[in-house]
Amino acid sequence: MITIKSEREIELMRDAGSLVARTLDLLEMEIKPGMSTRELDTMAEQFIRDNNALPSFLNYAPKGDPGVTPYPATLCVSINEEVVHGVPSKKRIVREGDIVSVDCGVYKGGYHGDAARTFILGSVDGSVRQLVEVTEECLERGIAMAVEGNRLHDISAAIEDYARSFGFSVIENMVGHGIGSELHEDPAVPNYGRRHTGVNLREGMTLAIEPMIALGRSRRAVSRRGAWVAVTEDGKPSAHFEHTIVVRPGKAEVLTRSLLHEGKA
Ligand code: MF3
Ligand code: CO
Repeated sequence: MITIKSEREIELMRDAGSLVARTLDLLEMEIKPGMSTRELDTMAEQFIRDNNALPSFLNYAPKGDPGVTPYPATLCVSINEEVVHGVPSKKRIVREGDIVSVDCGVYKGGYHGDAARTFILGSVDGSVRQLVEVTEECLERGIAMAVEGNRLHDISAAIEDYARSFGFSVIENMVGHGIGSELHEDPAVPNYGRRHTGVNLREGMTLAIEPMIALGRSRRAVSRRGAWVAVTEDGKPSAHFEHTIVVRPGKAEVLTRSLLHEGKA
């Protein structure tokens, strides 16, 4: 069931979303080659708790999937061929030349915010840089379609078309989602699909839109049994950007917009 949020609920989600943005801003300023992904996680958890909120992902257990252990951290930090759900570890060091996707969720005032960015550490191949830039633009093009009167898959198609125009592949088995008092609500928001199909978008729907785009041919992110991290099938790099948005008439409202990048978007 898709819920429409009241302006009062959206006000609370704005607060949660703003804390997600400020947490990612902090990590963007602090991330450096040689750091462990655990250090990033500790920094994020501390900042979130200092702001009277809880990490949404910590102890998260997917409904109806008893095979996987509850998620053990605040962030997902996914490096290069890791698509999503990289579990922070003190043994996992980020290095010059890596692309590092950081996904963060915050629960505050009874509502969740969820966002992700891919950081480029030092110099990378032109194709990898382009992958990251195109994935961020895929997210912006998806958001641009998230307006009242459009259909859900107008978002999906905008993401898919832009990614494919560069020859990149869309990870199809991981999707965005509705978000609110639960981290994952209806509807699923795929990153591929046909324009003019899917549910009608209405003002007050809150969505986490999250393109995951890969450099090679891989259209799936795969995990070893029992493991959280999901990687591309061919080992090629993958990028991930995510925002929590509210469907509005004319232009979506983005709840997790960075203050660092203000004026850019
Ligand atoms: N942004 C991701 C998602 O919406 C992060 C979930 S990680 C988990 O699915 F640990 F909470 F599963
Ligand atoms: Co999400």
